[in-house]
Amino acid sequence: MQRDLRDALRAETSSSHEQLDRKMRGLDLFGSTCHYAAYLSLMRALHVALSGHVNRVAALLELAPNDELIACLDRDLISADQLAPLIDPPCELGTNAVSESPDAVDWGTAYVIEGSSMGGVFLYRQAKDKLPEGIGTEFLQQLSENAAKRWPVFTAGLRSAEVQPEPAIRAAKGTFRKTEEFLAQILDRLGLPHEPAT
Ligand code: HEM
Repeated sequence: MQRDLRDALRAETSSSHEQLDRKMRGLDLFGSTCHYAAYLSLMRALHVALSGHVNRVAALLELAPNDELIACLDRDLISADQLAPLIDPPCELGTNAVSESPDAVDWGTAYVIEGSSMGGVFLYRQAKDKLPEGIGTEFLQQLSENAAKRWPVFTAGLRSAEVQPEPAIRAAKGTFRKTEEFLAQILDRLGLPHEPAT
């Protein structure tokens, strides 16, 4: 029997998620605006670098592209006095046109980026309690809404996608690795201690 792609992605990347989650909890995201700016910069780097993958899947599922989320990130970064993002990643992987139908790499990559909304529900609650007045939380608010409305559409699409699981799983694991690399670059830039990316 064919393995369910969503269940396979979840099972195969759960240890990558655990490792990333542990590193991000260690950062105390809302302990200072600088740490919060590091999180926003990380999410901006991922959304910009991987927009081709995310938006090809989004177009197929008739979901909004990620431009508005990136605009929310920019506004929140400015509110946290971070006028320029802490890293500006190349749009290395957004090579194919958005009009093309998504392949296995697109689905695996988009799984990680869309899935990051799930943590948003939890993070948004913390942000409202812990961040000083005037620091924007538009991005996290949007993630919370996406977790409720967009994630079910995405997972239904994933379950009916006719792609090979192996390249999708490789792409998802690679996206978690990329997230760790971006996080390490951001923490280096801020002079904050961290474990090396694996
Ligand atoms: C401190 C930061 C984070 C926290 C607290 C967090 C927390 C969570 C939680 C609570 C879930 C839901 C698990 C479930 O319902 O079983 C989840 C799912 C997920 N998260 Fe995170 N997360 C964080 C950061 C990230 C980041 C940065 C990424 C990727 C770049 C990510 C990728 C995912 C994925 C792909 C899922 C979906 C798993 C699935 O149900 O298939 N998370 N996260």
